[in-house]
Amino acid sequence: MCGIIGYCGPKPAANVLVEGLRRLEYRGYDSAGISVLKEGNLTVFKKKGKINDLKSILPDHINGKSGIGHTRWATHGEVNDINAHPHTDVSGRIAIVHNGIIENFTSLREKLVEEGSEFKSETDSEVIAHLISSLYDGDLERSVKQAVQLLKGTYGIIVMHADEPGLLVGARNGSPLVLGVGDGEMFLASDVTAIIAHTKQVIYIEDGEVVRITADDYATTDLKDRPVDKKIEFISWELEEIEKEGYSHFMEKEILEQPESIRRGMQGRIDLEFATGHLGGLNMTSQELINIERVKIIAAGTSFHAGMVAAYLLESIARLPATAELASELRYRNPIVERNTVYFAVSQSGETADTLYAMRELQRKGARVLGVCNVVGSTIPRESDGGVYIHSGPEIAVASTKAFTSQLTAFYLFSLIMARMRHMGTDTGLSFIKNLESVPERVAEIIDRRDQLLALARKYSGAKDFLFLGRGINYPVALEGALKLKEISYIHAEGYSAAEIKHGPIALINETTPSMFLVPEDSLRDKVITSMKEVKARRGPVIALAVDGDQEIAGIADDVFYVPQSHELTYPFLMVVPLQLFSYYCALELGRNVDQPRNLAKSVTVE
Ligand code: F6R
Repeated sequence: MCGIIGYCGPKPAANVLVEGLRRLEYRGYDSAGISVLKEGNLTVFKKKGKINDLKSILPDHINGKSGIGHTRWATHGEVNDINAHPHTDVSGRIAIVHNGIIENFTSLREKLVEEGSEFKSETDSEVIAHLISSLYDGDLERSVKQAVQLLKGTYGIIVMHADEPGLLVGARNGSPLVLGVGDGEMFLASDVTAIIAHTKQVIYIEDGEVVRITADDYATTDLKDRPVDKKIEFISWELEEIEKEGYSHFMEKEILEQPESIRRGMQGRIDLEFATGHLGGLNMTSQELINIERVKIIAAGTSFHAGMVAAYLLESIARLPATAELASELRYRNPIVERNTVYFAVSQSGETADTLYAMRELQRKGARVLGVCNVVGSTIPRESDGGVYIHSGPEIAVASTKAFTSQLTAFYLFSLIMARMRHMGTDTGLSFIKNLESVPERVAEIIDRRDQLLALARKYSGAKDFLFLGRGINYPVALEGALKLKEISYIHAEGYSAAEIKHGPIALINETTPSMFLVPEDSLRDKVITSMKEVKARRGPVIALAVDGDQEIAGIADDVFYVPQSHELTYPFLMVVPLQLFSYYCALELGRNVDQPRNLAKSVTVE
């Protein structure tokens, strides 16, 4: 989704902005632009395409010391230079960048046109520049405050005015905005990755707040002009973590990091003495935990698949009724909040609009919602009633990989806590811990075997359609495998319960449609084998993910990738990693833009 950045300080603003925009590239975008105040006038450069396209139109030296920048992910209006941000008012003295969607832009636009504004773009965002201009009386901050009160929708904006050099004003409603406090320089950005190279001291701006920055100072107020006291927080991520460090792609780096990221997610959270987990951030007493009668998990995309695995696990080991639901659907079906139910909002970014709004809807109805998030300080953890940070480190590739296995780790610990409270004995608890602790080294073994997945990708990446089939706790992993393949390789892929193929999808099977079967050693193995045989009988190519030593599978499938033996409930970790690698290699074979697949955004901050 769109990324925004603003800078005030001694450095050439254009350089800081372009470098910041590069760091925001991972969010997904289709055009970019900057505006810098130079010798009393605003200069605007914007270009369809990538940051390099923008760079190609920038003069060698732009001396301005303050400016704003934007990466656009088109919502209103096609991808072209004109629709790219920044947008300016008629006088060309006000420039804005915007992340979000202005829902009432049509009526505002009509009114502003009647009053003489001339619009250049098809975007909803341009209306903000004209609106501020129509209200401007020499005080930018005041006119921004007046303007945003007339907006309906979501926004994170940064505004500058040529008549007030060295000043930027930011405002937020529903789209993230963070202030970076530097030494003699200040930053505004949609996320910390844009500014981490310059400062690690940040202040998260909340909905309804307005921030003004100059090189040496900042002030936060609400829309009624009342000062808001904000705490400076410290970002723990290191710059290296958001760099490729010699890997070809962020996705490759993030897949290969998983032994470490899973281990990190457990660190300090295992209590061997009582054979349980420890998740202090839940903010719940033992009494409150034991009173939980039901768990409901809301999320989108990959996080939803992790939630589905979690629901299966909670029911299986904690005997606690649990379901996972798409946040986008829950929000609009007037959900019933039941007593003694705990909700989890799962989100890598902590900013996904569907999940955030569903969480707010639940909270308004009195629900307790816990976050399971990666990005520290993002909106969901800040607004939730407690939760777990998964600590997988920055995930930059658009396709989510290590966050999935870290989300699982958090839920395996939570399930252990609940199971131990409800009925699980110490010995079983200890053996569950042992199995969980062995996951990182088993994932490392899979990674060591990755050449075999590259060979499979070479063999199968020419397919136009793919099926991913699993059962039980691995059914969501099949869905995840299909999602990964389609999003980065653009091969059409569907995930199903293996049991379901005979209810429809088997009609797709022919010599050119491969099926990837997940066949761990569990109670459903024989059933999966039956489905595999049904596919083989129709001459469908079969790839199987099976467990070391399972020779029977080799006799049925065309190709087998073996994963190390493990406890049956831990196979989601061991099945998903080969699927991530397989997708990655297919995308490479097909020459796709692995880290920034077409049309996708990392942090989906609009509905
Ligand atoms: C898939 C992917 C998306 C996200 C989804 C939710 O690889 O990245 O499906 O999982 O947009 O994002 P978060 O977890 O940030 O809420």
